[in-house]
Amino acid sequence: MKRIIVIGASSGMGRRIAEDYAKAGWRVGIAARNEERLRQVKDLFPERITYSVIDVTAQDATKKFEDLIEEIGGMDILLFAAGTGWYNPGLNLGKDEATIGVNVTGFTRIVNAAYRYFKATANTSKGRIAAITSVAGVKGLGVSAAYSASKRYQWTYLQALDQLAHSQHVNVSITDIRPGFVDTPLLQGNHNYPMLMTVNEVAPRIEKAIMQRRRVATIDSRWAVVSALWSAIPNCLWPHLEVKM
Ligand SMILES: NC(=O)c1ccc[n+]([C@@H]2O[C@H](COP(=O)([O-])OP(=O)(O)OC[C@H]3O[C@@H](n4cnc5c(N)ncnc54)[C@H](OP(=O)(O)O)[C@@H]3O)[C@@H](O)[C@H]2O)c1
Repeated sequence: MKRIIVIGASSGMGRRIAEDYAKAGWRVGIAARNEERLRQVKDLFPERITYSVIDVTAQDATKKFEDLIEEIGGMDILLFAAGTGWYNPGLNLGKDEATIGVNVTGFTRIVNAAYRYFKATANTSKGRIAAITSVAGVKGLGVSAAYSASKRYQWTYLQALDQLAHSQHVNVSITDIRPGFVDTPLLQGNHNYPMLMTVNEVAPRIEKAIMQRRRVATIDSRWAVVSALWSAIPNCLWPHLEVKM
């Protein structure tokens, strides 16, 4: 039986994708901080889902992640779907630090441990590391400075791991999934975001990108166009553009 671990599976995209893999017969390890919600997901497929309460910002996160891998009998895919971020034009420092804690330090902690796991099990079948980053990494967004910077960090870290895996002959593929706006608790009930997608629309696309071992998957095609347009804007003009959210 194939095994996937989804970090950040108590809500939003991570939860839906964990449920889909369990439905498809996979052994699924799920983690996040909210135990009540993790238990609700487990109760949908009690035979196939195992949960662990993990706060990726805590020092013990790596150990708990490794224990979870062991508990489900190994790992074929890691999906890092945990994340946080705010609309923060007031530059509240607490919010910026919390964003860095999850999206930079926590992300690195888990993805780094997954890479080392696949490196140590290189003789077996090829592994996959996937992370839900965001189109927000294209450029620095004034209204979400830490969030957009953290997403750019994730893009770069994943690209670096891909190169490292090639040079070290580690049997793992790396997938960077970059959605536009998706209606999840992260958006705190604000439905005024442009080109807002539903979890139902996005989840199958993410699963397909992982299974096809895509390097980068921007979801959806409209957001791929927006990303291309944003990256084509010269840096000298970017500060004059008013990006509203
Ligand atoms: N929604 C969007 O518009 C959008 C667009 C592009 C990219 N993304 C990215 O997609 C990913 C998933 O977000 P989502 O939209 O599905 O939002 P979500 O429903 O808020 O899911 C975020 C998940 O991360 C977990 N999490 C947060 N802090 C954590 C921590 N310290 N340790 C462990 N888990 C933690 C949450 O669980 P607990 O609270 O239980 O810990 C939850 O399961 C994020 O990286 C987000 O940046 C979202």
